[in-house]
Amino acid sequence: MSIENKGVLDSANLCYKTEIVCAPNLRWEGSMKIENVKMRDIAKKFGTPVYVYSMEILRRSISEIKQLAPVTRYAMKANSNVHILKEMLNRGVKIDAVSIFEVQRALRAGFKADDICFTSDVFFNDDDVKFCLANNIYCNCGTLGMVEEYGAALKATDVGSAKISIRINPGEGAGHSKKTNTGGAYSKHGIWHQNLDAVKHLVRKYGLTVSGVHLHIGSGGNIEHLERITGKLVEFAKQFEDVETVNFGGGLPYQYDPDQPQEDISGYKAVIDTRAKILKKHFGRDIACGIEPGRRFVAGCGTLLGEVRSLNHTFDDEGKRIDYVLTNVGFCHLLRPMAYGSFHPIWFIGDELGPEQDLIVAGPICESGDVLTQKNEEPVARRLPMPKPGDCVVIGGAGAYAHAMSSNYNSQPLIPEVIVDGDRCVQTRSRQTLDDILMKETK
Ligand SMILES: Cc1ncc(COP(=O)(O)O)c(C=O)c1O
Repeated sequence: MSIENKGVLDSANLCYKTEIVCAPNLRWEGSMKIENVKMRDIAKKFGTPVYVYSMEILRRSISEIKQLAPVTRYAMKANSNVHILKEMLNRGVKIDAVSIFEVQRALRAGFKADDICFTSDVFFNDDDVKFCLANNIYCNCGTLGMVEEYGAALKATDVGSAKISIRINPGEGAGHSKKTNTGGAYSKHGIWHQNLDAVKHLVRKYGLTVSGVHLHIGSGGNIEHLERITGKLVEFAKQFEDVETVNFGGGLPYQYDPDQPQEDISGYKAVIDTRAKILKKHFGRDIACGIEPGRRFVAGCGTLLGEVRSLNHTFDDEGKRIDYVLTNVGFCHLLRPMAYGSFHPIWFIGDELGPEQDLIVAGPICESGDVLTQKNEEPVARRLPMPKPGDCVVIGGAGAYAHAMSSNYNSQPLIPEVIVDGDRCVQTRSRQTLDDILMKETK
């Protein structure tokens, strides 16, 4: 008898659960599905590796998040696929962009300048600040230098808005990894909370208005921390009499392990409501309170499909055998395990999967760190059924900071993206070719 992992859409958790079932003795005849489309059909049609996004799961997470705050922005760095951007646009979600390229991408997807907030600690070059002024892009400045540059450019050109937002570093942060913690003394982001008088000085000098205050303390933190930090931002906001918007940032948690309950974010609504009431009482007018998550919007809608290419094993000093499953999914396609030791659920689809054993699942890239199963940034074995070369590997929770962080390392072409909507399955980005990679190179 052969076995396979059968994926079942778990709507409560917005992710896939697995169970072991009997399977027909046929290669690629697994029955894991994304909406109504079999994963093995997607892999056959578009080749592997391939990113697949479920529109149904995306829509559900948009509805879940939209009810939390009066203004919701999508931190588009998490996934800038145009279909995802359009879905956000159609559902009234605005944009948090962190580069002028993201701003332009959002404009091309159909967002209006008014829908976009550009958050950064620097203008990348002189053209950036000119672009923002000329196109009325609201700038959320994360350093005194950026405020000064904006003010000086406004004064010099007399084009654009005098209104800015400031990003404040509240002196503490949180994140799933040190690298994604964006608050506190060791974070480069935001205007240090004790430097707000210097902001006021610059604002007077250049005739600016601080109409927004913002903080984002990190990605992958927890809800208790977010709750506490929103209180701090309210106090900072009170120092700026012209404030119209208060943006509490992103950082909503997402549970990647389908065996754990999904993080409950529903209570965050009451937190934001309370903050909005305090602000209204203080200012005597409504203050538009907003959030700007990235991960929580899109992590669950993405799946990365690849193929098992080879098996390998070694022996440690005690003679213990270590088994490796080598796939065609490398850190050039999905960086998170290598960069942060992040957990992603993994399943195999294939005929005659072997019994469960401890396996290290890895990729094709020429570094030992190219391992999908990691913990604390070290390779670790995971208990999984033994696949065979040619079987499909399914990596869940691959919608956020996944394709967006891929690279051409090892001259590997960027991989396709596919949207699934019910029975419909459409490729929205084709696989790069070597010619694409070389296009800008001159001999
Ligand atoms: C300024 C800003 N806002 C929002 C986000 C989104 O964070 P998350 O994806 O954790 O919600 C980030 C990500 O680091 C960010 O830098």
